[in-house]
This record gives sequence, structure tokens and C-alpha cells, in this order.
Amino acid sequence: MKRFFLTTAIDYVNSRPHLGTAYEKITADVIARYKRLSGIETHFLMGNDEHSQNVYKRALERGVDPRVYCDQMEQEFRTVWKQLDISFDDFIRTTEPRHKAAVQKLAQRCFDKGDIYEGQYEGWYCVSCEAFKQEKDLVDGKCPLHPTLTPEWIREKNYFFRLSKYRDALLEHFRAHPDFLRPDNRRNEMLRLLESGLDDISVSRAGQLWGIPLPFAPENVVYVWFDALINYAAAVGYATDDARFEKWWPADLHVVGKDITRFHTVVWPAMLMSAGMALPGQVFGHGFVNFGGQRMSKSLGTSLDPSDVAQRFGPDPLRLYMVKEISYGGDGDFSWERYEERYNVDLANNLGNLVSRLAAMAEKYRGSRLSPTGSGGRLAQVADAALTRYRASMDGFALHDGAAAAFQIIDAANEFIAETAPWTLARAGGDAGRLDEVLFEVAEALRVAAVLLRPIIPGSAAEILQRVGDTTPPGALRLERDGRWRADGVRQIAKGSPLWPRVEGAGSGGGGPVAFAEASAPKEGPPLRQPTLQQSAYVEAGLQTRLTQEIIVEEKPIGATGAPDVSVTKPAEDTRISINDFMKVDLRVARVLEAEAVPKSKKLLKLKVDTGTDQRTIVAGIAEAYQPEQLVGRTIVIVANLQPAKLMGVESNGMVLAASPDGGKPTLIGFDEAVPPGSRVR
Ligand code: MSP
Repeated sequence: MKRFFLTTAIDYVNSRPHLGTAYEKITADVIARYKRLSGIETHFLMGNDEHSQNVYKRALERGVDPRVYCDQMEQEFRTVWKQLDISFDDFIRTTEPRHKAAVQKLAQRCFDKGDIYEGQYEGWYCVSCEAFKQEKDLVDGKCPLHPTLTPEWIREKNYFFRLSKYRDALLEHFRAHPDFLRPDNRRNEMLRLLESGLDDISVSRAGQLWGIPLPFAPENVVYVWFDALINYAAAVGYATDDARFEKWWPADLHVVGKDITRFHTVVWPAMLMSAGMALPGQVFGHGFVNFGGQRMSKSLGTSLDPSDVAQRFGPDPLRLYMVKEISYGGDGDFSWERYEERYNVDLANNLGNLVSRLAAMAEKYRGSRLSPTGSGGRLAQVADAALTRYRASMDGFALHDGAAAAFQIIDAANEFIAETAPWTLARAGGDAGRLDEVLFEVAEALRVAAVLLRPIIPGSAAEILQRVGDTTPPGALRLERDGRWRADGVRQIAKGSPLWPRVEGAGSGGGGPVAFAEASAPKEGPPLRQPTLQQSAYVEAGLQTRLTQEIIVEEKPIGATGAPDVSVTKPAEDTRISINDFMKVDLRVARVLEAEAVPKSKKLLKLKVDTGTDQRTIVAGIAEAYQPEQLVGRTIVIVANLQPAKLMGVESNGMVLAASPDGGKPTLIGFDEAVPPGSRVR
């Protein structure tokens, strides 16, 4: 059986985890869960880095023994990781005896090999990085990562590790293993560093009490980085359990932040080479998560507690955001506004609503029991293609794309419902056979999507699987078997409360209490205002729908497009938007090429417009004010990046801007002078 050993960086415990450190644990957890889902025996290691001077200082500031302080912090870390549903198999602390034994053994081996020698260190030290810094690393005399702190000048007797000796071997390793460090930009950075040469590094600190004594010079403690890196081998039995070590070493993957890839891909492999040990298979250097555009840092006061975020909607929305919104390997940003927006779009309106709609339709039309009818149509093809994309993405650590692949199925299922309109198939004179097919396919699409999403949103995926009648215990799911489309098996669909009630007041920020659109009432998604005649068919069936799409709308006194207005009352608050929000709306000049009335509608006109880059159809609610022939050749302003909406059966790709005075007729926006189509309007 294949096996996979992956690790994350171990965290300094001078403060609680912040959202950036949590990001690393979430993404590594997704990889670990994906490997398990793929049937690979997986060992996922995390832990705490305790021998840091900052930890020691923090304990003294609090008036507690450093060990007691670290014990307390371990509980805090474990609590946060539990809140985020992180499924580590082992958690190591660097003050544990197994770790001390491993550090002393490995240090002794390097010493015996002649790779550790005594010398004198004189230079800068950044306590926050726990790293020796050269003059050229500082900006205005400060460490660029910790600009509020002044580095220390230290002059002490140290033991040095002959890192320079391993430069050629490291270069050779990088060249022979192009995947050793991912993503590529970090690999190139390290290659440049190696090519420019390496200095030996200090591996001990003199005159300190907090740390592991060097076995051959016990009046010195091991430098915290030399100590910390060894945790990966210590945890799987190096120096304490040979059989276990034999089974798991070398690690397959170290997941670490971009700031510490040098330690993991230069220092650590050199230490292992010196000790005669196998090198880890791969290191992934992920990017940083900023908060509201700023680097997350306790010392800068810009840090965010992952518990606060997880408490807002639960762990899964946070996990999904971290994975889907940030291209893995690059930097990303978290803001409350964006978080709530994605929650509403991906979870409340999209996945959550699909789950509710299926349950409502299955119950109403088929007593919640769905029987297989055929081999699967278009949705089955989408699901197959999504599985292929998902696998390739997840295997290549493009986690964001893996998440997107799963959502491809969800989007397709929502579109499929809109197109097939099960409520019309269910009417007298409808098509009962087709209705069976449609409902079964939607249930199956949801099942496959939930299997793919299991590593990313484990709790919610398990809940969805249970609701769509899959009784496989979540831990027993296997991608190869369960991620494929199945055209057999009766499905017992379960109804439940909405998984993710839509949240209102998006953008209020600050992690305060959440105002749900209708906390207790809605069973099938966001509440609608007074239903129109056409909408009432849905409401009657309990089948409310996504916000902007698929509602069969008739005449409504709304904006110029006739786009369905199903928003709900906003709380009284500052509703002004930022310039960034405004700039998301792509306002463009367009020219009307064709115009015609929409059959059976008094208000809607179907326009074909030239946007400068394409020709598209827009349905506009301006028929009472304009004759179609008046419009041809006219320059108008459109919202070009609206999601498509179906109005009276016609797909509208955008919205025409017009002034719509209360009770009056709409008047199109125009220009004093000729403006070419495609010009941006701001
Ligand atoms: N203790 C060392 C690691 C030793 S591993 C042998 C350390 N600890 S840390 O607590 O400062 O950072 C833990 C991990 O969190 C590191 O991989 C670091 O890169 C990562 N991150 C710290 N801030 C981060 C963000 N803002 N965003 C993403 N990851 C971040 O370094």
C-alpha cells in the first residue's frame, strides 16, 4: 500500500495561531485528506516550536515556568486546530523527550562527521525570526519582516555547521529533482541562492538556559532552527523507534511558508546529508495571507484570530475560502467583506441552495425516494470531466483549482435545474419519466461534488452525502470508486435545515454577530419578497432559487432590465461602498444592433448590442418607453459583467442603464458626443 508522510511547519508558541499560520494548517489538512481519500495511508504531522527565545521571554513576562506556559499554549493550539477540523495524526512539541533524543543524535552525527566546528559569531540577530542576519538583509537597520523591532548585535562563541560544504550536492539535488521545491518561483529563488554560494551557519547559542544542550558541548544549547527542523524525523521515531522511522522516513512533503523555504530546502537537506539520512521528497512553499491588504503580524497589530473567523460561519466556509480564493503557492488576502461575499455566493446561493432545492423537489414530487433511470446525461459528462480536472489539480497542489473543479459540477447542476424546469415536468401533462431522470441526476451530481469536496469542507460534505442518501462512512470514501458517476442505487433524500443561511449586511466586517437573512424560517434558501405569479410556482413547490438566475420573471416594476429583484431588506447601516467595490462593476458603452419585443411581455425588449469586444443579447425593461426601431443604432450604457439571467425565457447577458423615476417611464442614459462601443464608463 502506498504511504504518504506530510508535515507543516511547527509554530512558535509566543502567541496564539493567527489566520496566516492557520492557512498553512488548513491547506496541509486538505492535502492529507485528499491523500486518504485517494486510498493512500497517510501520516500528517503538526506541532509546536517551543525553544524560541520569544517563548521563553513571554513565559517570564507572564510569570510562569516556560514549560507550564508551553503546556498551556499546546492546549490553545489544539483547540484552534480542532475548531478548524484539522486532522493531524501526530502533534510534536520540541520539549518532548523523543525530540531531544533525535536532536542530540543528529547533532552528534554531524559533529562526528567533522561538519560542526567551534568558532566566533559576531553580527545581527532578529529574535522574531530567530535568525542570524547579515547587514545586507536589513532595511534601515531593521529586519524587513519585523520593522518595529531592533535586531540584536551578538558576539559569542558558537558552533558552526559546514553548510558551504554541501552547496554542490544541494545544487545537484535540485537539478536531479525538479519537483523538490514547488512552486517554481521559489525553486528559482533557491537555485539563485545556491549558485551565489553558501556560508556556514551557527548552530548553537551560548549562555542560554532554554533549549537542548549540544551533546558534545553541553554548556551551549542547540540553535532553535537546527533544533526545530529535526522534529520531522523525531516524530516518526528517529533515535527512539527504528521500525517506525523505517516505515515513515523520508517525509514525502513539507508544507511551509515562503519565508522559511530556505531553512527547509537548503539547511535541512544539508543536515540530513551530513547525518547520512534520506532527503524529503518535496517541499511546498505556500504564499502569505494578508488581512485587508496588510501583512498579518502580531507586532503590527494586523493579525486575525482564526477562532473568531471560524465562529462566524463554522470551519468549512473558512476552509473553502482559504482553498478556493487563494491560488495555492501565491499570496492571498482575507477581508470580512470578501469572506461574506464568497459565503453568500458559493455556499448560501450555490451549493446550499442546490441541496435544499433537491430535497424539496424530491420530497414534493417523489416522496424523497429517487430511482435510477439511465446511464446519466450531460451532468454525468460534466462530473467525469470535473473528476479528471480535480485529480490533476490536487495531485499538482493546485488546490484552488481542485475546489473549482468540484464547483463546476455544482454550477452545472444548478443550470440543469433551470433548463429542465422540473416543476413544469411535474405538472399535469408534463413528463414524469424525464422528471425521474432529472431528479436522480441532480442527486448524483451533488453526491459526486460532495465526495470531491470532502477534503476541503469535510463536515459539510459528510452532511450533504448523508442528505443525498450515501451511507458510506465518510472515512471509508475512496475517490476512485466514489468520485465516479453512478447510475444505480435508489436514493433516499433527507431534508434538513439550510446548511448556510444567506447572510445580510455583507461588508459590515469586524467579526461581529451575523445577521442571517431569515435565521429560522427559510427551508429552501434565501427568502423572496412577495412572489410574482410566475415565481409562485416555485414558492408553492418550496423551490426557491438562486438570486439572479433562473427565476421565470414576468412583468415587475424594476430596473431597466427587468432583472429579478429578490433582494431582502438590509439592516440600517452605512451602505456606502468602496471605490474597489464600484470598480467591480464593468460599465461599458455599447451600440444597439437589433431590437425586438419579447413575446407576451409588455415591458421587455430583446436587444442585440455591440460591446466593442462581442455581440450579445440583453433583455431590457424599456418597452413602455421605447419602440424597438427607435433603438437600433443608439449608443447606450450597459453593465457588462453581470451574470446571465433568464427573463421570460430569454437569456440576458448584461443590463442596460436608464433613469427610472418613481411611477415614470425609463429614460436611457446617453452622451453629448459620439463615444465608441467598448469605452469604459466610470
Ligand atoms: N517555528 C518556525 C517554523 C519551524 S519549522 C521546522 C516558524 N514558526 S511561525 O509560527 O513563525 O510560522 C509557522 C508557519 O506559518 C510558517 O510556515 C510561516 O511561513 C507560516 N506563516 C506565518 N505567517 C503567515 C501568513 N501571514 N500567511 C501564511 N503563512 C504564514 O516559522
